[in-house]
Amino acid sequence: MRRLLAVFLVLLCVLLGAPAGVGAAGHEVTYDRYSLKVDGRRLVLQSAEFHYFRLPSPELWRDVLEKFKAAGFNAVSIYFSWAYHSPKPGVYDFTGVRDVDRLLRTARQAGLYVIARPGPYINAESTGGGLPAWVKTVPGRARSSAPGYQAAYREWLHRINPIIARHQVTGGGPVILYNAENEYQVNTDAAYMQDIQDQARADGIDVPITTNDCCDAGSWSSTWATGPGAVQIPGVDDYPQSFECANPEVWGPWGEGLTERLRDDIPVFAAEYQAGAIDLGNAGYDKCRELTGPAYMKYFYKNNLVTTGATMFSYYMGYGGTNWGWLAQPNDVYTSYDYGAAITEARRLTPKYDEFKRQGYFLEAVAPLAKTDPATSPAAPDNPALTTTARANPDTGTQFVLVKHADRAATGTDDATLDWAAPDGRHRVPVRVKGRDAHVLVAGYDLGGQRLALSTSEIMTHALIGGRDVAVLYGTAGSPGATILRYGSRPAVKVLEGDVRASYTGGDLRLDYTHDGLARVLVTGGGRRPLLLLLGTDGTAAGFWRAETGSGPVLVRGTELVRSASAGGDTLRLAADTAGGQVEVFAGPAVRRLRIGAEDVRVARTPSGSLLGATRAPEPVRLPALTAWRSRAEAPEAAPGFDDSRWTAADHTTTISPHPPKTLPVLYADDYGYHYGNVWYRGHFTAAGSETRIDLNAVTGLRGNYLVWLNGRYLGSAAGGVQADSGDASTPPNPDPGPGHFDIPAGVLRPGTDNVISVLVANMGHNDDWIADDLRFKQPRGLVAATVGGAVGGPVGGTPISWRIQGSPGTDPLRGPLNNGGLYGERTGWHLPTYPDKSWKTASAELAPGVTWLRNAFRLDLPKGQDAPVGLRFGGDPSPAYRVQIFLNGWNVGQYGGDIGPQRDFVLPAGLLDEHGTNTIALAVTAEQAVAGPGPISLFTYGNVRQAR
Ligand code: GAL
Repeated sequence: MRRLLAVFLVLLCVLLGAPAGVGAAGHEVTYDRYSLKVDGRRLVLQSAEFHYFRLPSPELWRDVLEKFKAAGFNAVSIYFSWAYHSPKPGVYDFTGVRDVDRLLRTARQAGLYVIARPGPYINAESTGGGLPAWVKTVPGRARSSAPGYQAAYREWLHRINPIIARHQVTGGGPVILYNAENEYQVNTDAAYMQDIQDQARADGIDVPITTNDCCDAGSWSSTWATGPGAVQIPGVDDYPQSFECANPEVWGPWGEGLTERLRDDIPVFAAEYQAGAIDLGNAGYDKCRELTGPAYMKYFYKNNLVTTGATMFSYYMGYGGTNWGWLAQPNDVYTSYDYGAAITEARRLTPKYDEFKRQGYFLEAVAPLAKTDPATSPAAPDNPALTTTARANPDTGTQFVLVKHADRAATGTDDATLDWAAPDGRHRVPVRVKGRDAHVLVAGYDLGGQRLALSTSEIMTHALIGGRDVAVLYGTAGSPGATILRYGSRPAVKVLEGDVRASYTGGDLRLDYTHDGLARVLVTGGGRRPLLLLLGTDGTAAGFWRAETGSGPVLVRGTELVRSASAGGDTLRLAADTAGGQVEVFAGPAVRRLRIGAEDVRVARTPSGSLLGATRAPEPVRLPALTAWRSRAEAPEAAPGFDDSRWTAADHTTTISPHPPKTLPVLYADDYGYHYGNVWYRGHFTAAGSETRIDLNAVTGLRGNYLVWLNGRYLGSAAGGVQADSGDASTPPNPDPGPGHFDIPAGVLRPGTDNVISVLVANMGHNDDWIADDLRFKQPRGLVAATVGGAVGGPVGGTPISWRIQGSPGTDPLRGPLNNGGLYGERTGWHLPTYPDKSWKTASAELAPGVTWLRNAFRLDLPKGQDAPVGLRFGGDPSPAYRVQIFLNGWNVGQYGGDIGPQRDFVLPAGLLDEHGTNTIALAVTAEQAVAGPGPISLFTYGNVRQAR
């Protein structure tokens, strides 16, 4: 009975597409110095980072996670952002786009393990580094065991931990590791690190706890390997290319980027290994993708695998996403968090994805990699430009030889003969490795039913399909390759395609060839089961997809993606993305028909035993032009008669902020509960008549500004203060612009009566807390000083001002607290699709200083069953004099403007975008002066594929 149950659970596991070891029943996660193990089985953890909070469309989580899985990743690393879930103390939302239960179910359905990283601090270039802004008003240093902060973070942990806990591997779910804190390095507090772990255990977390170390010597795990606060499996973060993307041909400053071994009893864990970059120099993310492109990945990732022997990898980022709403930390990023990742913000696959796939499939297929020791290199090149490093599996003797070019800057080609003492004999074989390239070559490996003596091609994958081994090997196009296989007697060799020379001596079948296209060799007899050897190039190898069916694996080529496959009777069914062209399927001989989604694909059997057919091109996508914009000016708050009596009185005389106010009352927006987006102030004073100027200072985060009116007359704008205000000398590029001085024009002051200063202050987001320093994290937002006073250049101050403040009500239950600030239009619903804008006038090209809204509704009917991500493009030259908040059907999908960043294209994600209905774009444009408005504005697609599930 028990047996039956076990068989049933395994079947269920297969049906649900769960990775081996993740079943409906609980499993045990252990580890030793080599690798993680699930139920005793070794595992090379191949993970990439994904932030659900940067993709507010749960249906698309599935798309991205399936793409991870299809690249050979077996895990996803996920930060959980406290700020994203908690608008104020005691209030938490885990519904809709915040439904992390659904996220974890989706990960499991995609067949991925999860590294759960709930912080409480996450960094991630997210506002406050993931700490909610309300924590700025809590006494006690953040990221410490100070009582105020402790009560706050425990509140978060007790909400998020139970959700994570019910999805652990130990209970049949996907969560395999729990990451405590993030790069906790200076100002450390052991009691805090220990308490996070104690809370996790108390909340039912029973998988190993890890933490991600930064910066070597100053880091947590190197200092606190044992004792309070020590975690079970610390890992290390490495960003060898750094974050300046402008010159991708210049390789980064941080050496070989080798992940250190931290302890002898745990595997080497590359907890965050660079797989993209923030765009510090505004070069655009395509440059970041180049900086961290396939050449970098080959050199650094393979070096880390073989030189260090890491078996736990998590790449940051696999998919970056969007800083929608006010999610961005203001000082390092703009709206797009594309990150130059393998999968773009619009969910498109790139050449980096191909490289992940080549490496990921290798790690997945070649089991001896999970347990290796360093070895003296058995393979000597006869060209000093090439170097080799090796590891070997102590049980199987399998050798892994890394061949790399000694000159990291070289781009030429280099040939060598390797004199290789492999476990099955000594051979001389040709190899070619260019500068900035590295190959992992394998010898002494039981490849399915075959014995691979060695190969100078790299292994991508191999599978037992229909009673024969099918192996995909590859090398740089045009380079020589040699593969030697062992047989008991001479096998029959049939070259089906390509130019491959075979020779047989003393049990060695040697194949020599040039990597070119896709050669096919069928080997039968020789005392082994048949082998179909597919010898490709980087390009042709990347065209293969591997999927598991209930009756074994299949290989597919010619599709844009294979999400999953199932076999039933004589039919193989694929969930796949296609874009026209040939499709080829390697499945068992019983399979004679191919269905992609609901469509039959006519196929014929090839000499390779595969099925060959063709897919249909997607229907073209037609998008409407965005011409009929309606507009309405706002900012009634600037008018003296505006009724602000229901606004919050800003009258505090004390604050817990470590930054003392420069004038009283305290005007810090956070102190009055207004944490995100724009904030309005109205200051009333009775004028003596002698006032000639207003002096203000505001802190906004980088790229923020503020606009000032007196009695309805616009006085001008100034740049807001930035991170350097915190006194953090480590960020000198962001100088504090200092106070703004505004002269009162003649005739504007009203002596003896009420005068009103109106100030609109942008809050670009909250500083992170990377170095656990309240001066940086608790830097205020909003006005920090305000005086009305005397002559220009003379003393200021004197006239008392009484202030009121108004920000976002933060009450949108669907889109959450980060969606809106306190613009009049936002408070009144002008961004919402339902807002009646019929009375608005046709937009004029010219904007007045202040805030102007533009709206446009358009209908879409995209072809069904296709994935054609849509974007919004700002043509023309952006002006530094305006900034635009972009709302799609009420969702704040980004900010555009001359000085906000290089971004002109904004993703309109499906889910927020109705692909078969009416959509509304609303733009809130804040102009510092009279200026021509943004335009032309158009819709476009990032790509177009058929998507069959
Ligand atoms: C790491 C940090 C991540 C992210 C990354 C840079 O130091 O742990 O959260 O900020 O740097 O993108």
